[in-house]
Amino acid sequence: MSARPDSTVVDRQSGSAPSADAAAMLVGAVKRYGSGRSAVVALDDVTITFPAGKFTAVMGPSGSGKSTMMHCAAGLDQLTSGRAFVGDTDLSALNDRELTRLRRERIGFVFQAFNLVATLTAEENICLPLALSGRRPNVAVLDQVVALLRLGDRMHHRPTELSGGQQQRVAVARALVAQPQVVFADEPTGNLDTRSGQEILGFLRSAVDLHHQSIVMVTHDPNAAAWADRVVFVVDGRVHDVMDHPSAGSVLDVMKRLGR
Ligand SMILES: Nc1ncnc2c1ncn2[C@@H]1O[C@H](COP(=O)(O)OP(=O)(O)OP(=O)(O)O)[C@@H](O)[C@H]1O
Ligand SMILES: [Mg+2]
Repeated sequence: MSARPDSTVVDRQSGSAPSADAAAMLVGAVKRYGSGRSAVVALDDVTITFPAGKFTAVMGPSGSGKSTMMHCAAGLDQLTSGRAFVGDTDLSALNDRELTRLRRERIGFVFQAFNLVATLTAEENICLPLALSGRRPNVAVLDQVVALLRLGDRMHHRPTELSGGQQQRVAVARALVAQPQVVFADEPTGNLDTRSGQEILGFLRSAVDLHHQSIVMVTHDPNAAAWADRVVFVVDGRVHDVMDHPSAGSVLDVMKRLGR
């Protein structure tokens, strides 16, 4: 399967109304760091939809703007211009408190460094985002997530008592347990051996297939991207290409072309 132009890109002129099918969306997104001669344009007029109930991978060379795209889409960083939506919520219309709440309640995060709290058990870590927003976990959902990630016998361990793969499984459980509208994962397998990485990818895939979770994942690895429904290729802060039904081979072909 070869890459094809993005048919889901939203036409900025004809309207930026978010579609019901969008878990998250950027419209005319520009992110500039610094000013004057040292300014870096990390996102250069990006318009992209991350579909609901799908697994989207974001790929591109180092420094191409992948993390910036993810951080701006998740409300962790602010756009210089343009708009970011989570579902139909325009992030630029929210104040700091509303934005914090949205991040806690409607977004899950998984990072390359597992970012667990060392003094808390696996279970406490998993439930932390809910606790911070004054909610209790839905026991059925918690059980489901713990079973999916095979963490049943690890729930009372602290992060130092867990392997890297287990720690990342806890981080994925933490991202999923609140049943967020969208999960953003930035190189979630970057620090893992191949087998643990494959496991994490399988769990993310299952969350989409079984629970209709929406996931956006940055990765450098064509094999990881092949688990996704769609791959978005970013080059120099722009969306270069979008590929549906990727395979490791077809993704590698595009990456090779981009490397030239
Ligand atoms: N806080 C910042 N201040 C200044 N420049 C920044 C900042 N964050 C990112 N940049 C710059 O923006 C560009 C895009 O960075 P970004 O981290 O989004 O790239 P990336 O595609 O995630 O790269 P990698 O694959 O290495 O993680 C880079 O040129 C980077 O140096
Ligand atoms: Mg990055």
